[in-house]
Amino acid sequence: MKKILLIGATGAIGQAVAKNLGARHQLVTAGRSSGDHRVDLADDASVAALLEAVGKVDAIVCAAGNVHFGPLTEMTAEQFNIGLQDKLLGQVRLALLGQHVLNDGGSITLTTGVAADDPVRGGSNAAAVNAAVEGFVLGAAIELPRGLRINAVSPTLLTESSAAYGALFPGVETVPAARVALAYVRSVEGPLTGRVFRVWQ
Ligand SMILES: NC(=O)c1ccc[n+]([C@@H]2O[C@H](COP(=O)([O-])OP(=O)(O)OC[C@H]3O[C@@H](n4cnc5c(N)ncnc54)[C@H](OP(=O)(O)O)[C@@H]3O)[C@@H](O)[C@H]2O)c1
Repeated sequence: MKKILLIGATGAIGQAVAKNLGARHQLVTAGRSSGDHRVDLADDASVAALLEAVGKVDAIVCAAGNVHFGPLTEMTAEQFNIGLQDKLLGQVRLALLGQHVLNDGGSITLTTGVAADDPVRGGSNAAAVNAAVEGFVLGAAIELPRGLRINAVSPTLLTESSAAYGALFPGVETVPAARVALAYVRSVEGPLTGRVFRVWQ
């Protein structure tokens, strides 16, 4: 049984990940306003305080991170910065600080998304941020010591999220959250590192 810190356990992805991993492991959950602990990924001190409170873990899983969706022709640098500060730097921050609380052989699993490979209208911030997180995972994996691993999961639109975001992804076939959760299981329980587990079709 592993001790796993899961950020975003109440979200569409996080709930399914919690259901699967929680059946076999000890979960400690965190979110801005939900979970066992409060944390804002966009805030250094908040992430450091979370890790201090939780102590040593075997895995860190992030199923959280916000981006700005909106037309390129109206986008401001300030709006673009939302994704940089939250989903990109928030997850990078979690990994940079989190590596030091991982037990030997532990893992970090971050979340990206299909927009990095298959762009949608209004999704340029998501495309850039997801690609940057994936680049970080590739680069970080070869430097992590002590048998530590890092991967990303890139889901397409979840079936459970189609009411909320379906209009942004016309004609895109959705995947059930339970299937997306398997990629997180693969990252946490399997041997691979430096991978992007794409869950499309
Ligand atoms: N849903 C999809 O179809 C889909 C597809 C591809 C990629 N993704 C990506 O997957 C990630 C999760 O998506 P989701 O749809 O599951 O989101 P969601 O349903 O909105 O849930 C987000 C979860 O993360 C927590 N959270 C959000 N911002 C946070 C922050 N700054 N610090 C700490 N916790 C935070 C939320 O809890 P609190 O509100 O309590 O903070 C909640 O538990 C996002 O990065 C999204 O881009 C989603």
